[in-house]
Amino acid sequence: MKVQYRPADDGDLHPAHTALVDSLNQFAAQRAMPLVELDFEENLPLWRHLLGAGGKGFLVAEVKKNIAGFCCYIVRDGLWFLSYLAVAPEFQGTGIGRELFDRALSEAQGNQTAKVVAAYTNASNWPSISLYTRNGIYPRMPVLKLEGSITNLCEPPEPVDPMPGEVASLDEETIALIDDIDLEIRHFKRDIDHRFWLGARSMRCYLFKKNGGTTGYAYVADDGTIGPLAALSTDDIAAMLCFCLDRLSSQGVDMFAVHVPGENRAALSLLYDRGFKIQDLSLVMSSLPFCKWENYVISRPSLL
Ligand SMILES: CC(C)(COP(=O)(O)OP(=O)(O)OC[C@H]1O[C@@H](n2cnc3c(N)ncnc32)[C@H](O)[C@@H]1OP(=O)(O)O)[C@@H](O)C(=O)NCCC(=O)NCCS
Repeated sequence: MKVQYRPADDGDLHPAHTALVDSLNQFAAQRAMPLVELDFEENLPLWRHLLGAGGKGFLVAEVKKNIAGFCCYIVRDGLWFLSYLAVAPEFQGTGIGRELFDRALSEAQGNQTAKVVAAYTNASNWPSISLYTRNGIYPRMPVLKLEGSITNLCEPPEPVDPMPGEVASLDEETIALIDDIDLEIRHFKRDIDHRFWLGARSMRCYLFKKNGGTTGYAYVADDGTIGPLAALSTDDIAAMLCFCLDRLSSQGVDMFAVHVPGENRAALSLLYDRGFKIQDLSLVMSSLPFCKWENYVISRPSLL
């Protein structure tokens, strides 16, 4: 089978999206897990964000003019992150995933700025966990996808006062404040992603202040997702999450989802106390440890 590997362009986004959804659904069906519903139009801004200016970090594998698979990675400060690696079910097991991964990884290894190479995968996805681990990208942090609904939202045993957040807008002052928190908590900046989120119509960012300084930030989305969220002190996480839940509820959102690192005990305790349930378990994998996970909630798997 002749496979052509080349940088993606805008016209590849729809077939790449289809390959991703088909591969994730095949994976889910094999494990009797709920199928993935991902609307292309809704995800198009994210796809374009990942494609970037020249498609440099977005590689497709083409077989007879069909997109058989793709991978994309982002480089943010010293963090090189594999956002997606997917091969359409009918092309799996033929070496395409391995070749896409090798090509991406050789870029990471030759990239002078990349200090940490990282990836994200479902905890039961043994082919990808093995592929990454054999290449020096080790399982570091479990991430629990917790979901809650307005009808089952409980009061925590100890009352938590929501910490009021101020709506942030897309300006250089906000970016500088968030960059400082990211450096402290994630160890790497990514202003390009914050510009994307701050400009997204379906997301809002809140800044949390204490003693005259900014102590954290949190994003909420119209689809009920909370994150990314970063707090300089773990003591503030429960109150920040309660504020986010109140904001979403007051907008009429009735389903919530939060991707919580296993180390973030404050978020796990609060969300379980409030009636959230686990829906999925994934792994952050990386060449070296990074991030104070106890202070952080990830955004979506593709941007961490
Ligand atoms: C993970 C995935 C990209 C692999 O693509 P693929 O083209 O089928 O994989 P390859 O044929 O190139 O094999 C890659 C490696 O995985 C191993 N592998 C493939 N299928 C496997 C399986 N079912 N069980 C165990 N190992 C497996 C292969 O042996 C190979 O290792 P090797 O190079 O040492 O021989 C593909 O299964 C997929 O798209 N899965 C759904 C999406 C996903 O979960 N992506 C990863 C997280 S973003």
